[in-house]
Amino acid sequence: MSPELTRLFEAARGAQARAYAPYSHFPVGAALRDADGAIHAGCNVENAAYPVGTCAEAGAIAAMVAGGGRVIAEMLVLGPGPGLVTPCGACRQRIREFAGPGVTVHVADPERVRAAFTVAALLPDSFGPDNLGAPARAPHA
Ligand code: THU
Repeated sequence: MSPELTRLFEAARGAQARAYAPYSHFPVGAALRDADGAIHAGCNVENAAYPVGTCAEAGAIAAMVAGGGRVIAEMLVLGPGPGLVTPCGACRQRIREFAGPGVTVHVADPERVRAAFTVAALLPDSFGPDNLGAPARAPHA
């Protein structure tokens, strides 16, 4: 595993350990590296009003944006297994907002990285900022 991927894996595993998932008992961690090389992590945060809960990916993206980042360079999602914890549909769209089609999203369990997908594979023919004529994202735009 490359040092960069190891950093993402460790950050996601740390976030997973802090997940708030008392209802599903399904803790998830996510970590991403932004265009500046900074790592941002998030975990799922559930709620007694179930639909209000948020996914790990949303937390990691919020942390990036709050930290001034605007571009996802690489991402990793880590869940309990044994099934692959691929991002849910809504999170695929959230990722797409800050990641081009060629960006890699790794999927891991607490032991190892198990699969890798491009954003294009997760969300084909996606609707993104460019569809609105939005300018290309700059790291701090
Ligand atoms: N979950 C995530 O945080 N990310 C995913 O990619 C899949 C699902 C969370 C949402 C909920 O808190 C729990 O996992 C079970 O669906």
